[in-house]
Amino acid sequence: MEGPLKVPHPIPYQGSKRNLAPAILGYFPERVGTLIEPFAGSAALTLAAAARGLAARYVINDLNQPLVDLWLAIVVSPEKLARQYEALWRAQHGDRRQYYDKVRDDFNRTGRPDSFLYLLARCVKAAVRYNANGDFNQSPDNRRMGALPETMREQILGASHLLRGKTECSSLDYKDVVAKATADDLIYLAPPYQGVCGERDPRYLKGVLFDEFVEVLETLNFRDIKYLVSYDGRTGERVHGRKLPERLRLHRIELHAGRSSQATLLGRDEITVESLYLSPALAESLQLRRRYPHRAAEQLALMERKR
Ligand SMILES: C[S@@+](CC[C@H](N)C(=O)[O-])C[C@H]1O[C@@H](n2cnc3c(N)ncnc32)[C@H](O)[C@@H]1O
Repeated sequence: MEGPLKVPHPIPYQGSKRNLAPAILGYFPERVGTLIEPFAGSAALTLAAAARGLAARYVINDLNQPLVDLWLAIVVSPEKLARQYEALWRAQHGDRRQYYDKVRDDFNRTGRPDSFLYLLARCVKAAVRYNANGDFNQSPDNRRMGALPETMREQILGASHLLRGKTECSSLDYKDVVAKATADDLIYLAPPYQGVCGERDPRYLKGVLFDEFVEVLETLNFRDIKYLVSYDGRTGERVHGRKLPERLRLHRIELHAGRSSQATLLGRDEITVESLYLSPALAESLQLRRRYPHRAAEQLALMERKR
């Protein structure tokens, strides 16, 4: 599936599924009406799917309102956003720390998409962090200059080209977004990492509670909705997060997310593996359940090779 195709990725974002996206696309059904990303972040899967024309329409949702405003700017007014980013980037000479702080103050006052994009391009680990007042307080990474304006322009215009006219952007709680899905749609859920960033971690505006999440998935099963979930994982022997319970009847697949940079730094050669869960309705539409109920795992492996 992973070809020479260049997929634009305008928003640098910690936890982006950019590297895993091509493998996840291998579990898409034949036809997708709307691809819904309730925890979109940098919407890496949406962009990868749109680049291959795998869905008719897209929904980018995230509880973080300024992030969704940035998505709207990317989709609807890409030229303007690219120009604004360039102006911010070119003005960062002299005291870059002071300049970053000024843009951060501006962003906390106005919520401007261009300021947010600049901050994400320059801050530590491209990780959004907020203080108790809800102000963005992440520090700059002095080794990161932020993408060159020409590069950023290409990413912004590329993403807009793929999504314009077929994408709805919203800032709702994930529960309200999945409630609108129909049997034609596919939902991709990548909630905030549990364990790595706990349910009360300030880097996300609102945590996602395990029990509530499981209940939401149960209602989706009941409605025969096709969905995919990225959830727990492991690096070497260390496990991140809890597995989703058996009673959800999900197909769990392990995807290789690559080598952990932290483990490499510590001299350990460990790979990170992430679980991808397929809903019963999706597994059935991929003919994994009905025909081969006892050999689902082998069938999945076979499918993975075929796609
Ligand atoms: C792990 S990130 C998703 C990363 C994304 N898959 C990507 O490729 O960039 C989780 C996202 O969920 C959002 N979020 C947290 N709680 C939420 C909620 N209750 N409803 C919707 N979005 C939420 C966060 O703002 C964050 O952007």
